[in-house]
This record gives sequence, structure tokens and C-alpha cells, in this order.
Amino acid sequence: KSIIAIVPAAGIGSRMGADKPKQYLMLGQQSILAHTLDVLLSHTDISQVIVALHPQDQHFKQLPQATHPKLSLVIGGGERADSVLAALDYALAINPQAWVLVHDAARPCLRHEDINKLIGSVEQHPQGAILAAPVRDTMKRSDASGQITSTVDRALLWHALTPQFFPITSLHRNLSQALAAKVSITDEASAMEWAGVRPGLVNGRVDNIKVTHPDDLQLAALFISQAQQ
Ligand code: CTP
Ligand code: MG
Repeated sequence: KSIIAIVPAAGIGSRMGADKPKQYLMLGQQSILAHTLDVLLSHTDISQVIVALHPQDQHFKQLPQATHPKLSLVIGGGERADSVLAALDYALAINPQAWVLVHDAARPCLRHEDINKLIGSVEQHPQGAILAAPVRDTMKRSDASGQITSTVDRALLWHALTPQFFPITSLHRNLSQALAAKVSITDEASAMEWAGVRPGLVNGRVDNIKVTHPDDLQLAALFISQAQQ
């Protein structure tokens, strides 16, 4: 099976509030995006990595991975889903029979072990699947005033992670139709769900965090150093 990775990296990191987009902040020896790219570029089942960049990106070309032969660049869009769709347009032209593995630039702690688990789930989930982590805390529903109205059954709740793994043609069709219908799309699975597909959930490592707020940086640095041991 041919597998193309897509990395949305066109965000500006407003919640991080740093002097540059968070994917270019250093985490130990190299930037967050550089760590993410290393994991994907070194995986032997991934033939190409397409990165969506902000139209005014000034940083990507300075990465050591910038000229890697497996790498292609596209211009991202206003929302994450627009950036993913731009990369999907490009991927579709490369090989419509391929599957895509969509992975946030801001998740540098991904491990090959989890990529393998997700790719290996395709016989069980022929329409695609995502990495996810079971919710650990007791979950409450509230009313608008912040008082508890009920306890939600935790056994059926998951944190959606990335990568998310789908056949390129079906993800391209469902994501473009969902965006055209103005549906709010925060991950690839939500576009598939909107189209009536029930993607599989593959238990992923909880250290595959998305670096979002400043206090995530130390945690991500710790997880990266553990992965390098
Ligand atoms: N992303 C993208 N294009 C956008 C917005 C986000 O490619 N228009 C990417 C980000 O670069 C990131 C991933 O999608 O790798 C997840 O998004 P998020 O964590 O929300 O990053 P930002 O949008 O950059 O951060 P914020 O929402 O705090 O501004
Ligand atoms: Mg965002």
C-alpha cells in the first residue's frame, strides 16, 4: 500500500503567543516541526511527506529537512481543514490509490510504534482510522451557568489524536464537500463522520500531545528526550 503523509503546518499558534509560529519553537536540539518531520521522513512505509505552510512562512527553508527528497510543500489555508485540503489536492495528483496519514506539525512526540499500529489497523478498519486515547477522568456535562447536570459515560469517550489514516479519494471527497457545506471540521475523522463513515479508533500513546499552550513545551521536551533514550 502506498502511503503519503500530510502535515498541516500553516497555523500561527495564537494560543502559544510566542514571537513565531509554535511549530518553529525549539524543543531540545531542533524545532518542533523538525522533530515531527524526522519521525515521518524516516518511516519506510511513507513514500512522500506533503507539508502545508502559511503563505508568508519565513522559517521552513531554514530547517535541516527542507530539501529532503521525500518532501513537497503546498500553501495552506485559513483553517486547519483548508490546509489539509490543499495538501490532499496535491496528493491526489500524485497517486489517487494511495492512503494518507494526516499528522499535526504540532505533535512532535509521535513514535513509529503508533504509526505502525494505525497502518496495521486497516484490515479491521477498511474505511480508515485515527489514533485516540481513552478519557481517564470522570466526565461531567454542565449547564451554561457552570453547574453539573450529569456525568457522561467515560467508557465511550476518547481524545482524538493524529495521525488520522484514510483512503485519499474518500477523504478528499468528504472533506471538500463538508467544507463546501460550511460544516465545522476540526479533524479528518469529522469530515468522514459527516459523510456517514464510522472511522476506527486505535489506542495511541498519551505522550503524543499537541503542543498548544506554553506549558506544553516542557512536557513535550521530556517526552522527546524519553523517545531518544
Ligand atoms: N494549521 C494549519 N493551517 C491552519 C491552522 C492550523 O495547517 N490554518 C495546523 C497547525 O500548524 C498545527 C495543526 O494545524 O500543526 C493543529 O492546529 P493548532 O494546534 O490549532 O495550531 P494553530 O492553529 O497554529 O494554533 P492556535 O489555534 O492556537 O492559533
Ligand atoms: Mg488552531
